[in-house]
Amino acid sequence: MIIIEICIGSSCYVRGAQNVVEFVQNIIKEEHWEEKVTVKGAFCMGLCSSGLGVKVNGEPVIGVSLADLDGKLRHVIQREVS
Ligand code: FES
Repeated sequence: MIIIEICIGSSCYVRGAQNVVEFVQNIIKEEHWEEKVTVKGAFCMGLCSSGLGVKVNGEPVIGVSLADLDGKLRHVIQREVS
C-alpha cells in the first residue's frame, strides 16, 4: 500500500493544499488505484520553504507546486505504484 501524506498546515493551506488533495484523489480514481494508494492529511512537514508538503511512503517530495502537479507529483506516485 502506498501512503501519500498531504500537508494541510497553515502555510500549505493558503498556498493551495486543497488542490493537491483533489489532484491526488482524481488520479487515484482515474488510474483505479483505490486498493493501492491511501491519502492522509498531515500537519506541517517542515517543507514550507521548498514547495507544498507531500510525502510518499514517508519520503518528502521536494518542490511540489500547483503549476507542476501533473508532471512531478504524478510521476512520483506512478513510480511508487508500479
Ligand atoms: S505547512 Fe505544509 S510543510 Fe509546512
